[in-house]
Amino acid sequence: MERKEFLSKLGIGFAAVCVGCGVAACGSSKSNDPTPDDNNNNNGDLFTVNLANELTTVGQSKVSNGVIVVRTAAGNSASSFTAVQVACTHQGTSINYNNAQGRFICPNHGSQFSTSGAVLVGPATAALKEYKVAVNGSTLTISA
Ligand code: FES
Repeated sequence: MERKEFLSKLGIGFAAVCVGCGVAACGSSKSNDPTPDDNNNNNGDLFTVNLANELTTVGQSKVSNGVIVVRTAAGNSASSFTAVQVACTHQGTSINYNNAQGRFICPNHGSQFSTSGAVLVGPATAALKEYKVAVNGSTLTISA
């Protein structure tokens, strides 16, 4: 009687432990799965430009999200555009694009930068950050 009672209690206890383990293991394997960010479709895109009605003329520029994008040539291909940070690397003044000279010029102290952001004339010593441009149909996308 005592042995049967002992085994009975042991069986119940064992079953309870196993059920507990099973639930814990099962719950742990599923509940600890991180949900991947599958909606990461922007890939660092900063903004888009509708080329049907913006940047239609060579030399035109647009500033958005700290970036200046310029049409440097005719045609809707990526090579017709350049995008760099708008803040001068000297003291942060917003640069402008000079189409006649084909370069960016800072109105504050006169630093000049190439279309890819390289320093051509100081006092700035650091290049402007260049951003990626891509054209899909009439949509120009600027990304980091
Ligand atoms: S802030 Fe641009 S040259 Fe000084």
